[in-house]
Amino acid sequence: MFFRSKAIVGLDVGSSAIKVVELQTSSSGYKLTGFGYAPLPPEAIVQGSFMNSPAISNAIREACEDGGIKTRDVATSVSGHAVIVKKISLPAQSDEELEESIRWEAEQYIPFDINEVNIDHQILQEATTDGQMDVLLVAAKKDLIDDYLSVVSDAGMSIAVMDVDAFAVGNMYDFNYQPTNDGAVALVDIGASVINISVLSGSVPLFIRDITSGGNQYSEEIQKTLNVSFEEAERIKVGEAPGGVSTDVIPQEVEEAMREVSDTLLGEIQRSLDFYRATASSTRNIEKLVLCGGSARVPGLVRLFQERVDIPVDIANPFARVEIAADFRKNDRIRELAPALGVAVGLGMRRLNET
Ligand SMILES: Nc1ncnc2c1ncn2[C@@H]1O[C@H](COP(=O)(O)OP(=O)(O)OP(=O)(O)O)[C@@H](O)[C@H]1O
Ligand SMILES: [Mg+2]
Repeated sequence: MFFRSKAIVGLDVGSSAIKVVELQTSSSGYKLTGFGYAPLPPEAIVQGSFMNSPAISNAIREACEDGGIKTRDVATSVSGHAVIVKKISLPAQSDEELEESIRWEAEQYIPFDINEVNIDHQILQEATTDGQMDVLLVAAKKDLIDDYLSVVSDAGMSIAVMDVDAFAVGNMYDFNYQPTNDGAVALVDIGASVINISVLSGSVPLFIRDITSGGNQYSEEIQKTLNVSFEEAERIKVGEAPGGVSTDVIPQEVEEAMREVSDTLLGEIQRSLDFYRATASSTRNIEKLVLCGGSARVPGLVRLFQERVDIPVDIANPFARVEIAADFRKNDRIRELAPALGVAVGLGMRRLNET
């Protein structure tokens, strides 16, 4: 029987930009069929809250236009302090029983009013010897979900899959790097305003944490140091002179400011990993650190990280095993932006017939 799952587009609503990725399943896995990008004004999403919804839905439209994407069904994801992901242990029970009890069980693990959140769950491990089972609990504030529903529908699309950023990155990593279950890998997505950290064993998440800082911190520090606007500081950070021309000359004071921010961010990431090591029930050694997100491109960050931890540190390539046609219109752009496309690619790999 010929079966082809319906097309879906991966939509990453990042605070600095909207990214959309469309993938078709192919004999070898996936083939890139569409990619679009549209920057957002810095004040559109602040600390995870949608402050300017029209600007966000416009950017979604723009990104789809940029990518020539006609598909209307999207897979998108949430993260930040309005989302809680926890591995919990419950008495072994059937799917139906769990469906009934999860809301009630969840209440004690969630710092919000249970009526204000959407709950989802996934069984990680069926009954263990002590009659318990491991369940991954996901709770997201309804307000945030509603914000997503409305910007997506205002852009003329609809949400078919609602995911969590860190899971999407995990999905991207799983397909591209096919990790085994023996050890664990820490995936760290350093965006503009959020750092999503997850520790995975194979494709099973052992630990997830979001830190609310990121690349904006570099820009803010440069802004203060040089007394320039945020936009100007952004350009200096990525090595662009005011006219948009690329420059390799970074003033020493900028380099120092950036180094300081890198130190702080790495310290925060390390603290989270220490917390995982100290608390996770089935602690598996973290054997590798894999970075993604636009800020993984900060010059020297990988090296600095490598100096601090004695495990390999690498930047993920979300397209490592994804086929990109040699004549794909935006090959260069994709290569440049690749680290920032971890979430969008992971979402683009979701299918409508998946649950
Ligand atoms: N070459 C570069 N050097 C340093 N920083 C860069 C470079 N390219 C992009 N960035 C930074 O990466 C960030 C954007 O990354 P990304 O697209 O992953 O973030 P986002 O998904 O929009 O944000 P978030 O997930 O935090 O809401 C910005 O802060 C941007 O300045
Ligand atoms: Mg992001």
